[in-house]
Amino acid sequence: MTRIRVRLDALRDRSYTVEIRPGILAEVPLLLSRSEGKRRMFVITDSNVTRYYGRALNSKLAAAGCEVTVLDVPAGERSKGSPTVNFLYTKVFRGGIRRDSLIIALGGGVIGDLAGYIAATVLRGVRLVQIPTTLLAQVDSSVGGKVGIDHPAGKNLIGAFHQPSAVYIDPEALLTLPPDEFRNGFAEVIKIAAALDAPFFANIERNAQRIRRENTALNAKILETAVALKASVVEKDERETGLRRVLNLGHTIGHALESSGGFALKHGQAVAIGMAVEARISRELGLLGASDCQRLTAMLEAADLPVTPPRSINERAFMSAIALDKKSDVSGTRFVLLRRIGECAPGVPVPADLIRKTMGLVSKKSTHG
Ligand code: NAD
Ligand code: GLY
Repeated sequence: MTRIRVRLDALRDRSYTVEIRPGILAEVPLLLSRSEGKRRMFVITDSNVTRYYGRALNSKLAAAGCEVTVLDVPAGERSKGSPTVNFLYTKVFRGGIRRDSLIIALGGGVIGDLAGYIAATVLRGVRLVQIPTTLLAQVDSSVGGKVGIDHPAGKNLIGAFHQPSAVYIDPEALLTLPPDEFRNGFAEVIKIAAALDAPFFANIERNAQRIRRENTALNAKILETAVALKASVVEKDERETGLRRVLNLGHTIGHALESSGGFALKHGQAVAIGMAVEARISRELGLLGASDCQRLTAMLEAADLPVTPPRSINERAFMSAIALDKKSDVSGTRFVLLRRIGECAPGVPVPADLIRKTMGLVSKKSTHG
């Protein structure tokens, strides 16, 4: 018998740097022209971000001698699907993409996931740089290499792990972000703190009144802590076989709310409701104390985020979406629950009745017979 070992980890170093600095967006063209200058570049962005930052990036990259094409898609979650992917494949092939080309994701989490998915799949993978412009993308989705798209059957069901070669985060980009979107992104800050770090959670609790998009200095500090926490998790478990699952706190309920509601809820709002409901589930299962359950709910409310599911929820569609969650296995859907602020219990099966009860679906069901 011949034994052949396929060693993958040592194949090549895939480490990268996340630079967080107010004003770095203006420096990115120079930084990219130095590090990637000879590569053909494709900036993928959306219809809003192109007005604020895409055109400037394009002209400065061109002035720095880079060969660049900007491709923009309609803003919003509906662009994160296969029709847009096919549109972008056609555009990059017509634009002469090669294996040594670079894709730049300039925008929020939708663009990071979508452009990242194009980078992961086109020609079996090209380099990717992430330039996140929403709080959600800066704090979470631009770091860690999860890329993907939605399918009518559910949220983020198609995707890959494709790490960027660099991430540039400019807290000043948040100055143009609609306040609603800032709040939306803050849900992921609360998630990272609640799942991983009690002192960080206490810090954002203390600063709750000062947290707003204009407070660039405070936002930069929050981003530094949150990104460092996320990076440490990704380093230990890139492919989400264990520890990384804690970053899905609030997401089992959240994703099901998003997809069963036709994406009427924004991701951060859905995750906020998801965290509040999953805290109630943790409490019902005797994992989480009343005071930590209350602290998490109060922090979400202080950030002006919703903590109860919308009344319009379609129970059947919601429960089917829960069953399709990526964390499901032969024994059912596994939840990431909370033991205390800063510590999670991943992989807990939750009975369907308890999901219905904590979602407030039980009385609705009996009302309608
Ligand atoms: P988004 O990308 O739709 O951006 C929200 C809105 O803000 C859009 O209208 C966009 O045009 C606008 N915008 C972006 N930057 C702006 C700026 N600086 N100024 C003005 N307007 C700006 O939404 P999002 O909340 O950033 O991302 C949500 C997506 O992220 C979801 O699809 C979610 O699944 C995904 N996500 C992925 C991961 C991951 O690890 N890959 C993690 C969390 C969330
Ligand atoms: N946003 C969850 C993760 O990156 O694992």
